[in-house]
Amino acid sequence: MTLYFASTTAPVNIATLKYWGKRDKDLNLPTNSSISVTLAQDDLRTLTSVCTGPELTDDKLVLNGKEESLASERTQNCLKDLRQLRKELENSDAKLPKFSEWKLTIVSENNFPTAAGLASSAAGFAALVVAIAKLYQLPQSLSEISKIARKGSGSACRSLFGGYVAWEMGNETDGSDSKAVEVAPMAHWPDMKAAILVVSASKKDTPSTSGMQLTVKTSDLFKERVRDVVPRRFEEMKKSIREKNWPLFAELTMKDSNSFHATCLDTFPPIFYMNDTSKKIIKLCHQINAFYNETVVAYTFDAGPNAVLYYLKENEHKLFAFIYRTFNKVSGWETKFSSDELAQFIKHFDT
Ligand code: ADP
Ligand code: DP6
Ligand code: CO
Repeated sequence: MTLYFASTTAPVNIATLKYWGKRDKDLNLPTNSSISVTLAQDDLRTLTSVCTGPELTDDKLVLNGKEESLASERTQNCLKDLRQLRKELENSDAKLPKFSEWKLTIVSENNFPTAAGLASSAAGFAALVVAIAKLYQLPQSLSEISKIARKGSGSACRSLFGGYVAWEMGNETDGSDSKAVEVAPMAHWPDMKAAILVVSASKKDTPSTSGMQLTVKTSDLFKERVRDVVPRRFEEMKKSIREKNWPLFAELTMKDSNSFHATCLDTFPPIFYMNDTSKKIIKLCHQINAFYNETVVAYTFDAGPNAVLYYLKENEHKLFAFIYRTFNKVSGWETKFSSDELAQFIKHFDT
C-alpha cells in the first residue's frame, strides 16, 4: 500500500482578551476580536499525524486512542478547504500525486486534559490543519492557513503563531479577513511567564461552542461587551504588549476574564465555568497584589475552572510563596494537593 505521511505538534493558546460569540456559526466568524498568548512548553501540546493514499477507503480521526466521528461539519469544512488548495496545486503541476482525491487518516493525541477549558480545541484543530497543510505541501502563509483552522475551532487560528497573537474579527461576510496575526513574538517579552493551576481535568458540562451561542442569544450584558468593552480593550492590550506595560496588560487580562465569566452568568440559563476553587484563586491573586502593593500576578480563566496565571520572572518567588502556602504544596513541579477540591498540580510554562 502506498501511503504519504506528515506530523506536527501545535501548542495551546490562552486568551487574554476572550473570544466568546459567533456572528456566523458555519464560518466560525466571531463577534469580537481577541488576543492570546501561546504557551510554548511541551506540557500542553497536541501531536497529530496524518496520512493519505489511493487505497484508503474513508476519512478517519483517532483522538486520544479512540475513533471519533469525522462527520462534524467543522472538521469536514477544514478538510474541504485543504483539499481545494491542494487541488489548485495539482492543477498547476500534473506530476503531483492526487492527494486531493484520496481519503485521510488522522491520529491525534493531546498530552493534557481534553475539553476541560485548557484550549484543547485550539491546539487540536491547529495541529490537524497544519499537519494536512504540510502533507499537501501548501504554499499559503500561516495567516491564510489560520482561516481554515478557525473553521475547526475559532481559538485554533491563534495557535498557528507563537508569542502574542491577535485574531482580527474582520468585516467580510465570507470570512476572508477573519484571521490570526502576530502582535509580538515570544522573544519580545522574555520575562513573561505563565503557570497553569489545574483545578479539574474533567470534561466541562457546556462545550464552548454551545455555551457561546446561548450567551449571544440571551445575554444583555454580552451586547455591551461586544459593542464597547472589547473593541477598546483590543487596542489597549496590543499597545500594552508592544510597550511591555505589565501593570496594564495584567489589569486588562484580569478584567476581561471577569467580564467574559460575567456574560456567562448573565446567560439564561446561566453557565458556570468557574468553581469555588477558581474563585479562591482570584481572591488570592488580588491579595498577593495588595500585599506587595504592586502587580505580581494576573489570572485568566477560559471556559472551565482551571486558572492560568501570568507573571514576570523576577516575581516568581513572591507569587509561589503564597500559592504553595495556600494550596499546601507537597513536592516538585507536579504537585499533589490535599483535597480534591484544590488544584491537582501546578506547572510552570515559559510563554
Ligand atoms: P477546550 O476548552 O478544551 O477547547 P472545547 O469545548 O472548546 O474545549 O472543545 C473540545 C473539543 O475539541 C473536543 O470534544 C474535540 O471535539 C475537539 N478536539 C480536542 N482536541 C482535539 C484534537 N487533538 N484533534 C481534533 N479535535 C480535537
Ligand atoms: C473561552 O474556540 O473553543 O477559550 O470556536 O466554538 O470551537 P469554538 O470555540 P472555542 O472557544 C474558546 C473560548 C475561550 C476564549 C478564547 O479562547 O478566546
Ligand atoms: Co475550545
